[in-house]
Amino acid sequence: MSDYRRGFETLDREIHEPRLPIEGDLPDWLSGTLIRNGPAQFEVGDQDYNHWFDGHAMLHAFRIEDGTVGYRNRFLETNSRQEALAEGEIVRSEFATDPCRSLFGRVMSVFNPKPTDNASINVAQIDDAHVALTETPIPVAFDPETLETAGVVEYEDDVDAPMSTAHPLVEPDTGRTITYLTEFGRQSKYHIAGLPAGSRSRTLLATLDVDRPRYMHSFGMTEQYVVLTEWPIVVDPLDLLLRGEPFIENFEWEPGLGTRVRILRKEDGEEVATCTAEAAFAFHHVNAFERGDAVVCDVVTYPDASIIDALSLDRLRSDEPTPGTGRLRRYRLPLDGGSASSTVRSDERLELPRIHDAAVRGRPHQFVYGVGERGDGTFTDQLVKIDATTGDAQVWREAGTYPGEPVFVPRPGGAGEEDGAVLSVVLDPAADRSFLLVLDAASFEERARAPVPHAIPFGFHGQFVDGAGA
Ligand code: CO
Repeated sequence: MSDYRRGFETLDREIHEPRLPIEGDLPDWLSGTLIRNGPAQFEVGDQDYNHWFDGHAMLHAFRIEDGTVGYRNRFLETNSRQEALAEGEIVRSEFATDPCRSLFGRVMSVFNPKPTDNASINVAQIDDAHVALTETPIPVAFDPETLETAGVVEYEDDVDAPMSTAHPLVEPDTGRTITYLTEFGRQSKYHIAGLPAGSRSRTLLATLDVDRPRYMHSFGMTEQYVVLTEWPIVVDPLDLLLRGEPFIENFEWEPGLGTRVRILRKEDGEEVATCTAEAAFAFHHVNAFERGDAVVCDVVTYPDASIIDALSLDRLRSDEPTPGTGRLRRYRLPLDGGSASSTVRSDERLELPRIHDAAVRGRPHQFVYGVGERGDGTFTDQLVKIDATTGDAQVWREAGTYPGEPVFVPRPGGAGEEDGAVLSVVLDPAADRSFLLVLDAASFEERARAPVPHAIPFGFHGQFVDGAGA
């Protein structure tokens, strides 16, 4: 396959290249490791996973040090993968794929569910452990140097719920990690939890009742508040238990419900406001901040939830392409509740949005980095940097190549949201390989690239870690 669809093919090679060839000049201050996560095996035996989110997690590490780039990739050896390889078939239920089960097997799985630990979405840190994350709250630890799997991290608390987010947010000042979990039951609940830096024990900050939980992939956070955006894609908890469908197929798109935004104060758990907005769907919040008597929240939105099905592997590999990108939408959420207003901030399409987390998480931001799409009917084919205050954009693109999530790396001692580098893994199908791309964040022009000896399937999220090896 010599177009973007090469990015949805299995990569089964695990390699270590201590020195990749480098074209161009790396910034001399750039030192550390980019660790990225994403699916890399899309079938087991003669069974196919259904969805991009379902493939077996693989970690990729790019170690940048003294002007060199090392590369290593390794599957995350989860129970989900190990059992599938041992049985020669899909064993655990994923986001949009269920194992083939007899009626007896289905009944047994209701009483003895084995949630997936295929943590293919993001990476983060819990205490001193580097972990891979997905939407089941089962963080899988790995060695940042060798990428060897170290096993599930057990929290030292009794916070428990079957679903969470792969996008926890870290408070820049405290280092505390904030997340939410969804509990399904006769009375379903959302829980907001905080994990102090250097700890494995979470504290519950807030709990909210909800009748029919909604599918949420991420959330927003300001200095004082957590913003839970409930898109109108809802589930009856009984269906999850009894219908025997893959997880996401139990959710229904009900636009008549509109979007509901719940603003919770972290300090005392109080729900200070509930706002309503038009029906929409999003995977990714960009950032949120307080301004006067409102919260401003930037999100990458779609008109409806059909993007979830559009990211099924059949569809992505078909001749009918999907752009896989949305719009940067800014919500103004009044702190006394009521209707939220919103505007689209840029003409550029956007996904996998990133900001300078350490500087502006929870505070007013100017620049949003992400993947984009030029609009000629292929997958994400450019990187964009959008000035959220003006809507102006800078673009990096190279015909026939397909970049992944751009990660902003601040220059040590630097100032501002564009003083640093932007790292992205770019698929070059014609060359049948991917390369690490290093852009100057201010000019958004290429500084250097380092080709990898194989094509890396499209991944989701990554983090830049100082000092960890590859
Ligand atoms: Co995500």
